[in-house]
Amino acid sequence: MFGLLNFPLSLQGNAYTEYVAASAADFAHKPAGVDHEHATAVAMSGLTAWQFLIELGHDFPSPFQHAQHRPMALGAESTVLVNGAAGGVGHLALQLAKWQGALAIAVASGVHEAFLRDLGADEVIDYTTDRSEEVTQDVDLVLDRVGGPQSKRFLKTVKRGGSLHPVYFGEFDDEENARLGITVTAAQVRSSGAHLVKIGCLLEDGTLRVAIDSGFPLEDAQAAQDRAARGTSRARSCSPSHEPGRAARPPRNAPSPDARRSWSSRVGRGNRAAAAPPDQRRHP
Ligand SMILES: NC(=O)c1ccc[n+]([C@@H]2O[C@H](COP(=O)([O-])OP(=O)(O)OC[C@H]3O[C@@H](n4cnc5c(N)ncnc54)[C@H](OP(=O)(O)O)[C@@H]3O)[C@@H](O)[C@H]2O)c1
Repeated sequence: MFGLLNFPLSLQGNAYTEYVAASAADFAHKPAGVDHEHATAVAMSGLTAWQFLIELGHDFPSPFQHAQHRPMALGAESTVLVNGAAGGVGHLALQLAKWQGALAIAVASGVHEAFLRDLGADEVIDYTTDRSEEVTQDVDLVLDRVGGPQSKRFLKTVKRGGSLHPVYFGEFDDEENARLGITVTAAQVRSSGAHLVKIGCLLEDGTLRVAIDSGFPLEDAQAAQDRAARGTSRARSCSPSHEPGRAARPPRNAPSPDARRSWSSRVGRGNRAAAAPPDQRRHP
């Protein structure tokens, strides 16, 4: 089984343990071809990417965000820019955008270019040398995995009728958004075994690949947590192995070794979107 437990109703999932009691609705069966390390890594990051891009991030009041998220439908005509594309959430979101048929622009440190191209990025912008909001225009959707006060700069990147999804909501002016014809909306990740079943199918058939740069045995969970808390300009890993000390075998959905990066288990903070009706969109 794999799952994100009782989130965000409880921010203490008590998942760093050998045995846990949780709602069966939070779990999905782990696909046979995916090892425990990669299944663990995908739970929160994968659900976040899925619920930002594909399905509603929450359908009940959240401690972080009360308004419903309004994801936009993607297709072959869509252009999606993922800011923070080499991170845990970003590299999965990039692949989901490609799976939906969109043209994908990845924004990350230049060192990640080969990794992101390997995942399907059509274009890679190095944010250390270029200002992505200046060099791209007429994008249908910006998924800003960095978010916060700087997120507003992407309003100039999105075309009228498009959407901006900031991970941290930042400060937006509803009137300005309306004048520009841009939907600004964010999600709060929530537990969903049903969504993980769909993500599991994509892992199983190789559509979605999870990149991990390191794993931690369960007894070193604190070290994983410390590493995440320190923060780096590169993505981090804090994925306790289910069997301490066991080397993870490469699953068949693993990226090439030089493309291995990581995921992060940090929880989202403070997304607050303006009240809005839920959007109806097609599901896979
Ligand atoms: N709303 C929710 O429900 C929710 C759920 C899960 C996570 N989150 C939040 O989402 C954020 C991303 O999570 P994550 O797991 O993907 O984090 P992560 O694995 O730490 O990745 C963060 C990425 O941000 C990139 N980055 C840093 N500064 C940047 C900049 N100025 N411009 C562009 N990219 C920059 C880094 O890129 P480089 O490595 O290329 O430098 C890094 O790969 C976290 O803050 C997390 O707390 C929110």
